[in-house]
Amino acid sequence: MRIGFLQYSPVFGDKKGNLERVGEMLSKEKDAIIVLPELCFSGYLFKDRKELEELAEETPGPTVEYLAPITKNNNIFLVFGIAERAGERFYNSSLLLSPAGDISVYRKAHLFDKEKLIFTPGDSGFPIFNIEIKGVSTKVGLLICFDWIFPEPWKILALKGAQIIAHPANLMLPYCQDATITRAIENRIFIITSNRSGSERGLKFTGTSQIVGPRGEIYLRVGKSVEGVWTVECDLNQAEDKMVTERNDVIQDRREDLYTLKEK
Ligand code: ACM
Repeated sequence: MRIGFLQYSPVFGDKKGNLERVGEMLSKEKDAIIVLPELCFSGYLFKDRKELEELAEETPGPTVEYLAPITKNNNIFLVFGIAERAGERFYNSSLLLSPAGDISVYRKAHLFDKEKLIFTPGDSGFPIFNIEIKGVSTKVGLLICFDWIFPEPWKILALKGAQIIAHPANLMLPYCQDATITRAIENRIFIITSNRSGSERGLKFTGTSQIVGPRGEIYLRVGKSVEGVWTVECDLNQAEDKMVTERNDVIQDRREDLYTLKEK
């Protein structure tokens, strides 16, 4: 299956302009799953709740409406971050949009820093989704940016059978790109991290979007400031082999009997 990411530097508040740029960048991509950054059309650093309210949208909304013909005509699955309004609540969410127009939602569980002041922590749990491209099917889990620092959701998604975790991000700290190599190895899965490049209101994003394989191999890793779309062909069945040696299965060998705070 062809898997990939888009890295770019959106303009804060210019949803229309950002959508047009992304549409242009995706125009030649076909038959793939492509991950875009977190909050990649609104921008990231909302001044306050009022500014978030102005830029957030219901699902489905104008962003899905704009992207749906692209996913349909190009046969691509898109994962992208969005400021999601749900009644009086606002979530930092990721949507998975299929070529058929189906929408799946993950709401960010672990909010980072000032996100806590304006967003509601996610209530979607950690679902996985089946996708199929050109007769090849796989199971995809979604996480968002700062979720990287908590090993639990990665393990839960792997235990549910995710072969790929799609990870839209707006990273500022320098650790994630190395840490997710470990997440890929310890779960024997593929991880696609799509990060922002550039800066916004004084925040500098680290770019360096990447695809890591189940053995920690870096299939793709790009520079800090580049913009574009990159894809690679991967054999996702590799994520089914959980053996790190002939006698060590990273799923079966877990000692759930000892993973407790109770003293023995
Ligand atoms: C982050 O979660 N956007 C750092």
